[in-house]
Amino acid sequence: MPQLIGPFKQLVSLTELPIKGALSDEQLTIIENAAVSIHQGKIEKIAPLKSFNTADFELIEIEEELVLTPGLIDAHTHMAWGGNRSRDYAMRMAGKTYQEILAAGGGIFDSVAKTQQESSEQLLQDLLTRVNRQLTDGVTTMEVKTGYGLLPEQEIRLLEIINQANLETTAELVPTCLAAHVCPSGFEKKDFLELIEKELLPVVKGKELAHRVDIFVEDNAFPVDLAKPYLLAAKNIGFDITIHADQFTTGGSELAIQIGAISADHLEASSSTEISMLAESEVVPIALPGASLGLGMQFTPARRLLDAGASLAIATDWNPGSAPMGDLLVQASLLGIYEKLSSAELLAGMTFRAANALGLPDRGRLAIGERADMIAFPVTDYRDIFYNQGKVKPSRVWVKGQEQ
Ligand code: NIG
Ligand code: FE
Repeated sequence: MPQLIGPFKQLVSLTELPIKGALSDEQLTIIENAAVSIHQGKIEKIAPLKSFNTADFELIEIEEELVLTPGLIDAHTHMAWGGNRSRDYAMRMAGKTYQEILAAGGGIFDSVAKTQQESSEQLLQDLLTRVNRQLTDGVTTMEVKTGYGLLPEQEIRLLEIINQANLETTAELVPTCLAAHVCPSGFEKKDFLELIEKELLPVVKGKELAHRVDIFVEDNAFPVDLAKPYLLAAKNIGFDITIHADQFTTGGSELAIQIGAISADHLEASSSTEISMLAESEVVPIALPGASLGLGMQFTPARRLLDAGASLAIATDWNPGSAPMGDLLVQASLLGIYEKLSSAELLAGMTFRAANALGLPDRGRLAIGERADMIAFPVTDYRDIFYNQGKVKPSRVWVKGQEQ
């Protein structure tokens, strides 16, 4: 028997909104006293409760006042790591820059060393703790990058851990290979990229450990001229491409457009040139407010990107270095008030626009045939969600129609 869940004080479906461009709250479809019928994990119908014949369903009656939205989607995280970097953070508060710490062999290199020392069992448990915290916070799908392994054997270990975690949680994890995060010592950058192209990517593909490849494009990570042939080779093998682009200097977003990447993430340094190019392309820009907060630097120019006609997803970048908070709702709320984004733009950035950045057309909206990944906030109006600045989390979470 299909399930019927409701009534919800408000249901924000996010249907009929475009993938690209600015959105106003007037464009939102809000259904009052709504119910959702679900069959085999998918949404069958959405309408006011009174329009259903409740005898036809297993009714799950909602007694409190709740606002229902699609489950949140975090399209950029590095949640598989060992150790912590509180010393880096203290140094940054004292005025050292992220780039100085990296150039001195700390930063990402420090997490690579600590991750390598950790047992696979411990890494799996720590990853699952983070994943399940996000799920409780309403994030039902999350991307997880490698990047603290670097060398093929360590990267494969991390990918296997992420895939194992996917089996042990009801949230859905989307693994991404970020072996090209920084160049390990003892290698020339070009040789390292060739090594991972030849010895890692075919194994990742063959074992179906990931279908996405990422790279950190920055002069002290990988410059554009070396990144390009690596990404073209990865694309040829069949991977979707995503890029850490324009975080400190530009170049990465233009490369993302040239090679047809699915997303370009960070963009804190993007100028009007990059903004117009992104707006004309199909690349999804992803803002990572958690990294701006963790580094004490400017936010991604989200308002200008949307006004130029670009899409915009919002993700946590949860990692031990630049973005240790890992709270999508808090970060989106802060981005909203600083960048002047509407509730519709924030919700879109964490749902169907984020799904598009991950190539997942089956989720991100409350629409017929979509996965019944849904979250309910203990508030009476959708505007209360961001007004509470992320402090009020969803009180009920469903994945494929199953309450968590
Ligand atoms: O997205 N900028 C590159 N990579 C990560 C940070 C990783 C780290 O500092 O450990 C980021 O900010
Ligand atoms: Fe990142």
